[in-house]
Amino acid sequence: MNKLLLTVTTLVLLGSAAQARTWDEIKKSGTLKIATEGAFKPFNYLEGTKLTGFEVDLGNALAKQMGVKAQWVTQPFDNLLIGLGQDRYDLVIASHGITPERAKAVDFSNPHYCTGGAIVSRPGGPKSAADLKGKSVAVQVGTSYLQNVNKVPGVGSVKTFPNDAAAQGALMAGRVDAWVSDRFTGLDAVKAQKGKLVQGDLLFSEKNGMAVRKGNSTLLKEVNADLAKVQSSGTYAKLSNQYFGQDIRCK
Ligand code: ARG
Repeated sequence: MNKLLLTVTTLVLLGSAAQARTWDEIKKSGTLKIATEGAFKPFNYLEGTKLTGFEVDLGNALAKQMGVKAQWVTQPFDNLLIGLGQDRYDLVIASHGITPERAKAVDFSNPHYCTGGAIVSRPGGPKSAADLKGKSVAVQVGTSYLQNVNKVPGVGSVKTFPNDAAAQGALMAGRVDAWVSDRFTGLDAVKAQKGKLVQGDLLFSEKNGMAVRKGNSTLLKEVNADLAKVQSSGTYAKLSNQYFGQDIRCK
């Protein structure tokens, strides 16, 4: 067999060996494997060793609605969608903005909340896109914040951090002028830091969704149906109010 043909055959075999679990298979196994980051308060984070947050509670509510057990896996944010392609878990819930680039690699559920990227600074610091001119900004790597801050005309330097808490830490330590993150994550930090941080303008809006492996249409359909059910039953509103004092579903 010629070498090229062998390589192509190997790729095809590898491709077909990696099959996302269908909803039927998940249901039979009794367990839905869900991945998140575990470092994005108040959406998904660790309280001591306990994984918690709005998205963790929502994921558990969805699994309950499905009649299966949720089994959680944590991964660095920029690995999450890659692991989905390798079938290491069935579903990712980690505040991913539904972007056309990501939608080429994975399939997104209907949005589980609507939000945006907002500026946070120390008192007296930049509050608007115009204020970011010539300023240094911290963002988490692989995020829509990075993408959007890079588009701000005249922005000084953009520094990336492996997780959002580190980006916030750089702002607190005075190593950057601003931090751009989810508006609710920013609000949470502003509240926790009592006067040391202030939230500025929303830089952009986004719809955040859960992801399944590209082509896993049976699971996607099930997830969307269960999301609609927890939203109409009051479960979603209860969780959202608990974490944010408001209902953050897309209207
Ligand atoms: N919403 C942003 C994005 O789509 C950031 C998400 C960050 N999530 C996290 N778990 N750290 O890129």
